[in-house]
Amino acid sequence: MTTAIVSPIAPNAVVFERQAAAAAPLAAVTGAEIQAPLITGGHIRYANLDYGASAPALSLVSAYLNEILPFYASVHRGAGYASQISTSVYENARDIVRGFVGGRPDDSVIFTRNTTDSLNLLAGCLPVVDGRPVGEVLYLDIEHHANLLPWQGVPHRSIVAADTIAGTVDSVRAELEQGGVSLLAVTGASNVTGEILPVRALAALAHQHGARIVVDAAQLAPHRRVDIAADDVDYLAFSGHKLYAPFGAGVLVGRPDWLDAGTPHLAGGGAVKEARLDGVSWATGPARHEGGSPNVLGAATLARATQVIAGLDQDRWHAHESAIRSYLVDGLQQIDGVTVHQIFKDTNPDTDTIGVVNFSVAGYDAGLVAAYLSAEHGVGLRDGRFCAHPLLKRLGLPSGSLRASFGVGSRLEDAQRLLAGIEKLRRDGLGWDYVVDAGRWVPANDTRTYPHWAPNTPGTAGAAPCTDD
Ligand SMILES: Cc1ncc(COP(=O)(O)O)c(C=O)c1O
Repeated sequence: MTTAIVSPIAPNAVVFERQAAAAAPLAAVTGAEIQAPLITGGHIRYANLDYGASAPALSLVSAYLNEILPFYASVHRGAGYASQISTSVYENARDIVRGFVGGRPDDSVIFTRNTTDSLNLLAGCLPVVDGRPVGEVLYLDIEHHANLLPWQGVPHRSIVAADTIAGTVDSVRAELEQGGVSLLAVTGASNVTGEILPVRALAALAHQHGARIVVDAAQLAPHRRVDIAADDVDYLAFSGHKLYAPFGAGVLVGRPDWLDAGTPHLAGGGAVKEARLDGVSWATGPARHEGGSPNVLGAATLARATQVIAGLDQDRWHAHESAIRSYLVDGLQQIDGVTVHQIFKDTNPDTDTIGVVNFSVAGYDAGLVAAYLSAEHGVGLRDGRFCAHPLLKRLGLPSGSLRASFGVGSRLEDAQRLLAGIEKLRRDGLGWDYVVDAGRWVPANDTRTYPHWAPNTPGTAGAAPCTDD
């Protein structure tokens, strides 16, 4: 199957230069050449436009994993050669990650499962006096559920973001002026639209009003250098699997005082100074929250990924992602019946957005478009409500939309394939019949198969319907 290459912007020198910046991947990633079977027959290179959900591993990270794997052993208590190497790799990973986020020397670096885990951990460490929480957590309605639900179990209040970034900062200021906020919880970049929040300004505001700030950097860290000391951010959380290290580790970095006094996140071995039959004296530092055997390889590869990302030329990195983004946005906006969504009217698309584009196609359910793009064009992207139900409802998208997301392993051709697929949909309609199976759109009579080691064939997976999409 061939896909026409659409050229959404009138070609000129600037456009050619921008597009050249994105013609090839900026860094090698695993799986870049996998072939996806098409429902209409044949195969095509898989166009992965779903980096925002989970990004592929950097090839350098995958190579590093293979290098350290033979030395994998128990950490902290093992006296053997491999244990000592594993312990050194694990503990050094903290310093590498601290350096990556511009952490202060005394910041704790705690390895977790993911961003969700990191934020839940912090929710157990909010200040308490005489057994009662001091202050409330303030958050916006644009947050991913990971930065919304953990706060619902503690005293909290939420506000609706304004339709401009400037207005949103004003709303946060007004709320902070009411007093009583101990923590402002805010995303660094929206997982729905890719718009970046003004973290430094929000941190200054929080501090002026006696509050701290936690930044959910799950989307920001894979796309922008962060510097928590320079921005005066108290806590930062992100996930390895969105930062090209999909081996099961996340991280929480931040001020040690709350973390050292908070409820141990995982009670168990390694988290204590001394345990008795009827009591315990908890450790301080990262150990307090890392009970049980840690994810050594996850932490090590996460740290390695941060080194690779930190080594990228920042201008080229930015040019690569913004070229794909503007190509995609310009192209989508020229297709009749397609709407590109954003939260704020004053976002500068060249500077204030990461590699995420959100859109919908008139007359088609988002899940149907996603199934069509996968089955007929070999494009993988995300549909649904992106674990941000309050925002989707407010944007007038209660049944969801589509999200294309990309990063260092992406190339312009991925965006061109998506545009060609949407153009064809609007022009010719679907090229196959689709049905709803277990709550998801799938091609009817799908005979494509997975590789022999993957258990199910498409359409017969019997997956439970996704309720928190
Ligand atoms: C902005 C944001 N925060 C938090 C999360 C949760 O990340 P994880 O699933 O790695 O815990 C996501 C995941 O999509 C996200 O996009």
